[in-house]
Amino acid sequence: MADAGPLDELDDLFSGQHGSTGGHGSAGGHGSTGQRGSVGGAAARSGRPGDVLIVMSAKGGVGKSTTSLNLAQYAAEYGPDGYRVTLIDANRGQGDVRTYLRLHNARTATIYDAARTGDPATGLLTPSDIAQFRDARWGSVDFALIPAPPSSLADPEVVTARVYADAIAYAREVSDLVVVDTQISEEHDTTNLWDRALIPLLREGAWCLSITQPIPPAVKNLIERLQWFDQIGIGPARVMSFVNMVDEGDAETADALVTRLGQVSTCLGWIPQDADVESASSLGRFVTDNPNFGPVLATALSNVTGLPGFDPSRHDEAPVGLLGRLLGRRKGR
Ligand SMILES: Nc1ncnc2c1ncn2[C@@H]1O[C@H](COP(=O)(O)OP(=O)(O)OP(=O)(O)O)[C@@H](O)[C@H]1O
Ligand SMILES: [Mg+2]
Repeated sequence: MADAGPLDELDDLFSGQHGSTGGHGSAGGHGSTGQRGSVGGAAARSGRPGDVLIVMSAKGGVGKSTTSLNLAQYAAEYGPDGYRVTLIDANRGQGDVRTYLRLHNARTATIYDAARTGDPATGLLTPSDIAQFRDARWGSVDFALIPAPPSSLADPEVVTARVYADAIAYAREVSDLVVVDTQISEEHDTTNLWDRALIPLLREGAWCLSITQPIPPAVKNLIERLQWFDQIGIGPARVMSFVNMVDEGDAETADALVTRLGQVSTCLGWIPQDADVESASSLGRFVTDNPNFGPVLATALSNVTGLPGFDPSRHDEAPVGLLGRLLGRRKGR
């Protein structure tokens, strides 16, 4: 860890004094088995509980929900036959996942049902449940989902941290991989969801993918959170990161941030501001084959699961994709 405080470091980073290229840590992986069948069906998967990947940031609007949705779809698309994935929207107040999936007008089950009944299974939508509610022209959704409660039912006394912890535990029983989209992680956790449901999982070996935009408050807050994670035993090997929405012309700053984040996490690189990503989100579509997003999704999933299907080299042809940057390739070289 660097001795300078985060603000000092940021001044340096944003004034472009560091010119290094992106670092890339490595993380051990492990295999996972699964059975074909609908998630949430009677036949629970055999073996150990599913892997958990928690998507976090220390500032809003950096791309957590976009990344969570695409991680879940990527894993379901490219995982082995029968690989089962569940996405949990752990934004209690403002869950955007249903909106991004164009399910916001549908009366679907949500985590509120899990709280009401005491049975997490009642809050889960299988891929075929989702297909009933979602217009087929937006494409299929291949993962299961536990949506956030409607805002009118987001009472923290009812939809408690315990409800989320139970929902994640249940999802791990019926899935090979559980992706958790979150609200921002702050020092004083007003939601209790981090302190009571997510931090304990990270301490037990869950993985984290943290995201920041290349703007000083977002980076400062994230570095402080990741330093704190490290202090409480959640070390860089299981905590990944990337810089999102880098503007054209800011590559040097982004490279420096990647190096800095590599000191407190396994930094996967940076992704530019990409109009296709933005328009796909507003159309309810995925960007699993996007040359910028695809490699970061693959690398994260490969680190978590160790499965060959997530080998990021499938995106090697990407002209200026993330892997290109990691390897020092740039357009025009
Ligand atoms: N690389 C990218 N290029 C362009 N737009 C992007 C990129 N990544 C995400 N976005 C867009 O940024 C917006 C915010 O993304 P998203 O909702 O995923 O952020 P969030 O971190 O989940 O926000 P919140 O903190 O409100 O939950 C969306 O419109 C999304 O399409
Ligand atoms: Mg979000």
